[in-house]
Amino acid sequence: MAEQGKIRIIKPCHRLEGEVTPPGDKSISHRAVILNSIASGEAEIVNFSPGGDCWSTVRCLRALGARIRRVGASDFPTLLVSGVGGRGLTEASNVLDAGNSATTMRLLGGLLSSQPFLSIITGDASLRSRPMGRLIEPLRLMGAEIWGRGKDSFAPLVIKGRKLYGTEISLSIPSAQIKSAILLAALFARWRTALQQLVPSRDHTERLLKQMGAELKSDGKLISLNPLTSPLKAISFTIPGDISSAAYFLVAAAVHPDARIVVRGCGVNPTRTGIIDALVAMGAKLKIKNERLNANEPLADIVVESSKLRGIEIGGAMIPRVIDEIPLLAVAGCFASGKTVIKGAAELRVKESDRIATVSRELTKMGAKIEELPDGMIIYGGKSLSGAEVDSHLDHRLAMSLAILGLMAEGETVINHAQVVNVSYPSFWSVVASLIPSQSSERSEEAARELKE
Ligand code: S3P
Repeated sequence: MAEQGKIRIIKPCHRLEGEVTPPGDKSISHRAVILNSIASGEAEIVNFSPGGDCWSTVRCLRALGARIRRVGASDFPTLLVSGVGGRGLTEASNVLDAGNSATTMRLLGGLLSSQPFLSIITGDASLRSRPMGRLIEPLRLMGAEIWGRGKDSFAPLVIKGRKLYGTEISLSIPSAQIKSAILLAALFARWRTALQQLVPSRDHTERLLKQMGAELKSDGKLISLNPLTSPLKAISFTIPGDISSAAYFLVAAAVHPDARIVVRGCGVNPTRTGIIDALVAMGAKLKIKNERLNANEPLADIVVESSKLRGIEIGGAMIPRVIDEIPLLAVAGCFASGKTVIKGAAELRVKESDRIATVSRELTKMGAKIEELPDGMIIYGGKSLSGAEVDSHLDHRLAMSLAILGLMAEGETVINHAQVVNVSYPSFWSVVASLIPSQSSERSEEAARELKE
């Protein structure tokens, strides 16, 4: 993540129209490169995420001896991975750096717990403040020797890899990162691992492991995985577009008074489509077309038009399906009639920023009315919104949510620390500009220009 603070200026636009091809899914990209690195054979991963988070995973894997080459355009890169097999990773000569990426740290934390060497893994200031006890505790039940700063609460993590035991683990937090960490560790354990999740979370790891030949059974809540008896089989595939990136344009089209946006090739895995369900429940004119399957992951095209939204209430099992889109749902709630209530989402407090606090604070600066709850927020729709100077708090999802609000607010919105979008969506600003008719034709830099602080 760039350390230099940068600002973006967003102005309202009369119309939003066009097509968006979102970048490769970030969650699937992490998993595809990790699992292919420890597989046997060659894999071509097309449409790998261009976001900084996935490059953190690539850098760490290379430091561990993985063989990964990057080819193709920078917005839609391809990776060529030569698997080193289940026992082919080697001790890194330095501390591993996961940057801003909790997925990198937690997934590799699980994998490295079961590798026969020492690893130390750290991250940027935000990642070093995020909870790691939730990773350390279940891995220790498998016999892992893993420690963290602050009485095993935070990174840096120190891992003395060893042979682990399969066991029965019940996950109290619906976290796909922790679930995946345990599954990666379990691949090399002595016995079968059984994992119980009270609420299902994104299932990309399970889908990919099955495709690559692992003995994994899942009914959504109970997952069992046998240790590998032969290496995973490398798998080449095209990663579906990231619904968490596409979501900004789904919401932009729904709340803008004169808009029609088509999103092409977007992942629609049901563990991720909470934002679609929420928008439809709010009354959005949203159509899903051309549904298809690629390497066991569903994708589709999505068309959204200007809509009149009404407030809804979400909570419970819906939350993990929409967790990364809640800042954006708050934006949608500002344009809905009545109130939008989000509950059971205390996890938002331990994301890249405390998203309950930062979303409330920054949207309020633009005229939104939001009440913070310990585990969510209430957004009162229909307030008049005006541009203001706001801050991303170095949180990519907040920066992009503020940009969408800025397109609809009266006057100019100045977003500080806007460079953080690079974490997941480096081309976000140019995609926004391409949807604004005057800017896409005149290539005007006016409404989304970048300035050094
Ligand atoms: C992710 C899981 C979620 C999500 C994150 C990506 C993943 O985090 O918020 O952006 O790829 O497994 P948690 O596992 O902490 O819920």
